[in-house]
Amino acid sequence: MANFVSGAWKSGIFDNKVVFCTGGTGTICSGQVRALVSLGANACIIGRNAEKAQSVATGIAKERCGSKVLGLGGVDVRDFDKVKAAVETCVRELGGIDFVIVGAAANFLAPISALSLNAFRTIIDIDLMGSWITMKATLPYLLRSAERHKGSVSNGTGGRIVFISSTNYRSARVAQVHACAAKAGVNAISDVLSLEHAPQGLTSNIIAPGPIGDTEGLRRLSDPTLREDAIRSVPVQRLGLVKDIADATVFLFGDTGNFINGACLDVDGGSWRVRGGGQFGNRKYPESINSAASMGREKTSRL
Ligand code: COA
Repeated sequence: MANFVSGAWKSGIFDNKVVFCTGGTGTICSGQVRALVSLGANACIIGRNAEKAQSVATGIAKERCGSKVLGLGGVDVRDFDKVKAAVETCVRELGGIDFVIVGAAANFLAPISALSLNAFRTIIDIDLMGSWITMKATLPYLLRSAERHKGSVSNGTGGRIVFISSTNYRSARVAQVHACAAKAGVNAISDVLSLEHAPQGLTSNIIAPGPIGDTEGLRRLSDPTLREDAIRSVPVQRLGLVKDIADATVFLFGDTGNFINGACLDVDGGSWRVRGGGQFGNRKYPESINSAASMGREKTSRL
């Protein structure tokens, strides 16, 4: 049985569907796309690095014989024209867009005192503006798919978008004001979209991953010496798997998600309920501020 998606899903549920994904070269989003492709979808992933985008796409395509997976590089989500061109390539080569995963994001640890104007703006540009740009560039095609699938049970699902946020949106988080602000905005985009376009058949939802093991995010944003404490602080007593996020995605895009719109699915083992926003690993507030800051870059901004 595949270790990247649950065996509970029926094979072929996404036959003839197309998913467009930003951040698709990263561990979590490539796992989501891999799951959808294994269940029948074709896909287009975009990233900044062309070689990486191509090699991740080639790897995902091996999941299902006959699948088509495009890996488009040189696409920064901050650049509307580049994203729009990638969307058009996807539509031309794969025939449309039924699902969108808005996953591209960047983050680093830096307390307010060390964060320059430009550093704050950079994360807002990538996480928030990048999500906005992706949504705007794909919306016309999502609406076409929504129209094709509206009220129909026989031709599957379509016209669905999922934004990848973070459970940090629920609380302030030391050394992550930039990401907290950006993800709060991302959640707002999804929430308003879910109101404005649901009458046309589109659904918009959020997946907020908690601590997911073996990801760049966990390596960059948590202290490896406190890993055991981090695990103990998750109610289900383990870190998340990429598969956990992939299954949530299949759930929302599949027939199982038909009446779910404007929701935020926390996939975190319940950990946000335990952890205080001021804590970092097992370092209690206020020592946590310096602990998180020392994991980030040695830098204090003047602005
Ligand atoms: N701590 C504090 N400030 C930082 C920082 C850090 N770790 N990393 C970048 N910055 C600041 C830079 O100093 C700069 O501000 P300045 O002009 O005042 O010096 C600003 O952010 C922009 O940085 P720059 O590197 O020029 O921007 P970029 O657009 O080329 O790349 C990132 C920005 C975030 C994409 C890049 O740092 C990166 O690739 N990060 C790793 C990928 C990532 O975040 N993956 C997500 C997993 S959590």
